[in-house]
Amino acid sequence: MNKKIEATKRYNETAKLYDKRYGDIQIRKYQEVIPEITISDTDLIIDVGGGTGLLSDYLQNNSKNIFICDLSFEMLKEGKRKNKEGHFICADSEALPFRNDCCELVCYFSVFQNLESPDLSLSEGYRSLKPKGRIIVTVLSKLFTQEILEEMLNKNEFVIEKSCKLAVEDFAFIGKKK
Ligand SMILES: C[S@@+](CC[C@H](N)C(=O)[O-])C[C@H]1O[C@@H](n2cnc3c(N)ncnc32)[C@H](O)[C@@H]1O
Repeated sequence: MNKKIEATKRYNETAKLYDKRYGDIQIRKYQEVIPEITISDTDLIIDVGGGTGLLSDYLQNNSKNIFICDLSFEMLKEGKRKNKEGHFICADSEALPFRNDCCELVCYFSVFQNLESPDLSLSEGYRSLKPKGRIIVTVLSKLFTQEILEEMLNKNEFVIEKSCKLAVEDFAFIGKKK
């Protein structure tokens, strides 16, 4: 089965359980990575593969300016149930529905394992970011090496500012658009 269809089906079927199963672990990732950058209250943020909007729950001060994009409608519905004011958008990471140079931060928390083309998704993130805008990517360390991710980010012209192994599951990367 096509990877996109497979992932969408799986997340649609398990959406109601997602926060209970993965909430704590995802929050631990945000707690380690987010303090590494400065986010102002007016920054526009795109949360690619943002699922049920856990990142938006975590970044309460910014939640009005976060656009949560995901292919799974059921994951987005769960998010909307928690946060009626949130901006939940059903969209593919390979074709983000945003203008060029429109936001300050693009995040991909634990999304790459589902993607057919992480490269294409990264190029969409790059396109949507303002010059000097930041990107955060975390990937499952059992599926990706740090070198492969750094290569992908470099190929997409991001300048890598920080990369590290998180306490739980993932490698994390912070980069900047030139
Ligand atoms: C492990 S979850 C991570 C959710 C969220 N980032 C978090 O921190 O809780 C992976 C998410 O990626 C989404 N996803 C998979 N393929 C996608 C694609 N091509 N475009 C957008 N979202 C996708 C899934 O539907 C799922 O919600």
